[in-house]
Amino acid sequence: MKFNTEIQALIRQRYSCRSYAQTQLSIDDLGILRSAADKCQIGPFTNQVRTEIISASQENTAELKRLGTYGFIKNPMGFINIAAQDTQRAMEDVGYLIEILILKATDLGIGTCWLGGTFTKSQFARTIELRDGEIIPAVISIGYPLDRQALMDRISRTYAGSDRRLPWQELFYDGSLSQPLTPHNAGQYQEPLEMIRLAPSASNKQPWRIIHLKDQFHFYLQRTKNYPAPVFNKILKLADLQSIDMGIAMAHFELSALASGQSGQWIINDPDLPLDKPGLEYIISWKNKT
Ligand SMILES: Cc1cc2nc3c(=O)[nH]c(=O)nc-3n(C[C@H](O)[C@H](O)[C@H](O)COP(=O)(O)O)c2cc1C
Repeated sequence: MKFNTEIQALIRQRYSCRSYAQTQLSIDDLGILRSAADKCQIGPFTNQVRTEIISASQENTAELKRLGTYGFIKNPMGFINIAAQDTQRAMEDVGYLIEILILKATDLGIGTCWLGGTFTKSQFARTIELRDGEIIPAVISIGYPLDRQALMDRISRTYAGSDRRLPWQELFYDGSLSQPLTPHNAGQYQEPLEMIRLAPSASNKQPWRIIHLKDQFHFYLQRTKNYPAPVFNKILKLADLQSIDMGIAMAHFELSALASGQSGQWIINDPDLPLDKPGLEYIISWKNKT
């Protein structure tokens, strides 16, 4: 995927935009977004993810209104509709692929918001013609931000969003969970890790934990206890949103590592470390090649 703006700047610029201007997305921007979506179909875990870019037009504003978001989103001018098989690690692939698409939208000045709970599934299922075994794990609202300046302002703010994020010592570790990884000791990987820290996550739970060991970064999911609340989950039939969060973190890390001259690849290599933290689940590792 090609970006006009540096990836780290785009990651800092992105935020969950919930109010949009009543301006239709331009034909050019929609074309670029649709061809970007064509490139985001198979994730690192080899699951296929289908997307459909729905946009408001003179003819279909009524239809767009039917695609409800329970009033949480003001004037969405379109959606990225998503369908995926409910198979192992498919949600990580959803997070990874769709976050790359979101960063491409950010590159075009389009505001986005991940919606994992606050949308009416049945309507979206109908428009994407959901196939056997598929689910709609989330959708993304899109449109030009009501306050376009708000998006632009974030380009210059070095630590946009970081005020609402966990500190390094709660997310990144050096060899074991008893030793936090400092930005200094992360070396060339300081920026890719910081990009994970700034990633969006469902209810801002930030469930990623990374342990650095020799030439590898091991990614673990720290599941939040009783999240989502069982009663909420039962009504809304939520997808595994925290696995989506993990895929998002993988995308931020990989794009930023590659942009800062590192090379590497995703491998499954659980180091079997003694982890006395309930709810911590090994997912994947990044093996540095430089
Ligand atoms: C998988 C996922 C699901 C989300 N679902 C919703 C949602 O249903 N409604 C909503 O308003 N925001 C939703 N969000 C947005 C988060 O609340 C937001 O990313 C987080 O609070 C951090 O804020 P930021 O994105 O502005 O940096 C979701 C985010 C993710 C990654």
